[in-house]
Amino acid sequence: MTSVFTATSVSRLYGAGRNTVVGLDEINLAVETGERLGVVGESGSGKSTLIRLLAGLDRPTRGEVRFDGELISGRPEHQLGFLRQGVQIVFQDPRSSLNPRMRVGDIITEPLRSPLLRGRPGVPVDKAARLAEVLEQVGLPTDSGRRHPHEFSGGQRQRIALARALAPRPRVLIADEPVSALDVSVRSQVINLLNDLVAEQDLTLVFVSHDLTVVRHLCDRVAVLQSGRIVERGLTAEVYAEPQEPYTQSLLEAVPRLPDPS
Ligand SMILES: Nc1ncnc2c1ncn2[C@@H]1O[C@H](COP(=O)(O)OP(=O)(O)OP(=O)(O)O)[C@@H](O)[C@H]1O
Ligand SMILES: [Mg+2]
Repeated sequence: MTSVFTATSVSRLYGAGRNTVVGLDEINLAVETGERLGVVGESGSGKSTLIRLLAGLDRPTRGEVRFDGELISGRPEHQLGFLRQGVQIVFQDPRSSLNPRMRVGDIITEPLRSPLLRGRPGVPVDKAARLAEVLEQVGLPTDSGRRHPHEFSGGQRQRIALARALAPRPRVLIADEPVSALDVSVRSQVINLLNDLVAEQDLTLVFVSHDLTVVRHLCDRVAVLQSGRIVERGLTAEVYAEPQEPYTQSLLEAVPRLPDPS
């Protein structure tokens, strides 16, 4: 079976010379079809760097990244249509990721109008129909398309970001701290929605979070990053029950309480 993603000896350095900052250091990782991989680690450990490389939004300094077995690192954007359709990403703060001047309907269908996606097999052709479908899937009112992002709450804005990500029918969803900018009271609603969407649409999920409780709830595997390296990985239940690395133990000890997953 071909993995969805493989990263082989991937490093990402920022800057040069004495000012070099290590974002990722010789990472090896495979993400398999249908799995839900959680990526955890303290601030600055390289989580966003890793998923930006998987999503083809950035290039490694060394090593290679593949999607469906095809090399993506180092390829020009115009050759990445298969990646742009297959993989969509949701960011932390919907306030900055949604263009405030655009109508929500245009924001959500924008990926469908991208020259890289237009005409690809599987990409919805009828934009209005697809808009109505994804609005319903994320639980937003049918007339939301005519409105602007500022007319929605934080939780609703993250639903808009999810609808936009789902619009081209991706197989893989990447989420980078998708609820940490949201009010605590709406976080679990958005997480439950994400959980349902991933299950209903058989998505492969790569989920970055500081919140280890959410990762336990959502993800079947986990990778623990520290200073740009994967220091521990495995089934979420096993890593949480018996963390092998002191660093993982300290991350888990920082979690106030671990309710039973349900
Ligand atoms: N564009 C950049 N230029 C310079 N250094 C960067 C850049 N992006 C990330 N870094 C550095 O690379 C390291 C990893 O950053 P990254 O954003 O991947 O961490 P993170 O785990 O996502 O952190 P957080 O939990 O705070 O989002 C950090 O030391 C960071 O300062
Ligand atoms: Mg980050």
